[in-house]
Amino acid sequence: MRLIYLGILLALSALCSSLDNGLGKTPPMGWMTWERYRCNIDCKIDPENCIGENLIKRIADKMADGGWRELGYVYICIDDCWSLKSRGSNGRLQPDPERFPSGMKALADYVHARGLKLGIYADLGNFTCGGYPGTTLDSIQVDAETFASWEVDMLKFDGCYSNSSEKALGYPKMSYALNATGRPILYSCSWPAYEGGLPPQVNYTLLGSICNLWRNFDDIQDSWESVLTIIEWFAVHQDDLQSVAGPGRWNDPDMLITGDFGLSYEQSKSQLAIWAILAAPMIMSNDLSTISQEAKELLQNRLLIYI
Ligand SMILES: *[C@@H]1O[C@H](CO)[C@@H](O)[C@H](O)[C@H]1NC(C)=O
Ligand SMILES: *[C@@H]1O[C@H](CO)[C@@H](O)[C@H](O)[C@H]1NC(C)=O
Ligand SMILES: *[C@@H]1O[C@H](CO)[C@@H](O)[C@H](O)[C@H]1NC(C)=O
Ligand SMILES: *[C@@H]1O[C@H](CO)[C@@H](O)[C@H](O)[C@H]1NC(C)=O
Repeated sequence: MRLIYLGILLALSALCSSLDNGLGKTPPMGWMTWERYRCNIDCKIDPENCIGENLIKRIADKMADGGWRELGYVYICIDDCWSLKSRGSNGRLQPDPERFPSGMKALADYVHARGLKLGIYADLGNFTCGGYPGTTLDSIQVDAETFASWEVDMLKFDGCYSNSSEKALGYPKMSYALNATGRPILYSCSWPAYEGGLPPQVNYTLLGSICNLWRNFDDIQDSWESVLTIIEWFAVHQDDLQSVAGPGRWNDPDMLITGDFGLSYEQSKSQLAIWAILAAPMIMSNDLSTISQEAKELLQNRLLIYI
């Protein structure tokens, strides 16, 4: 039996080459702003929860002290709405200085000092989905260099406001640009989520060789209906999706919403169980300061994480 398994593994690894940055050998784990915090930029009314360094530092402290980091939850990821509405005079993206007064490099230092990794968001296109400056084909290189100079560890590259041919050029181009910075940066591509269903409009073999993970389908919402829709989509397409995943290249059905408002205890267990079976990234979007003990125990279940 062992030999047969080994043979299958070797055959698989020969067929599929993954992005060679040494990252994501197991499905990435961490936390991301989007599902819970959206584009909340009102730090006057909601200083604890607006997209800014307060929120990231608050959650980083929890991840480091609350037993999360030791279990593998190490990526803390800022999604959309972190930047100013225009690029700087040097053509670079710039964090909103009112919400990120210390700057991104200092925030990365803060996160690294706690044994965690910082993720950031950009969008291949004219604008981000939230209407912030996008990364056009011309600005891919400078943005990759900017993120590396801030010592960012992960990039989610969304796909609003670009067409299919721009995506086919831009997603590989960003992969090479990140590589050229010399800094290993986990690369999450939203490309397939914009290209409709299967049979794949996206070449998953190519995707696996340029991205560490990719969002296949719609954004998750804080409801059981949303979770069900995602599960059903992955069930229908499982034969196509299973074979393209492996160390360094993962399908991403989107964030874990355990600890939020939409799922019951049993529904939370179901989301976690299915995500584990899918070998999905385990990226939470919740409030680790106020999360219930019940939800925390589910997310910190060791057997689940080992699966
Ligand atoms: C860049 O790609 C080369 C060749 O695939 C690989 O050996 C190297 O580790 C990569 N570097 C980074 C920083 O990803
Ligand atoms: C992006 O902007 C260019 C130049 O204004 C425009 O021609 C193009 O249609 C826009 N693309 C999308 C997908 O909105
Ligand atoms: C996509 O956008 C580019 C640049 O704006 C344009 O040249 C190209 O014709 C567009 N392609 C399609 C299929 O719309
Ligand atoms: C998919 O991409 C791989 C790797 O780049 C390539 O070898 C293969 O020919 C592509 N398949 C199709 C159907 O384009």
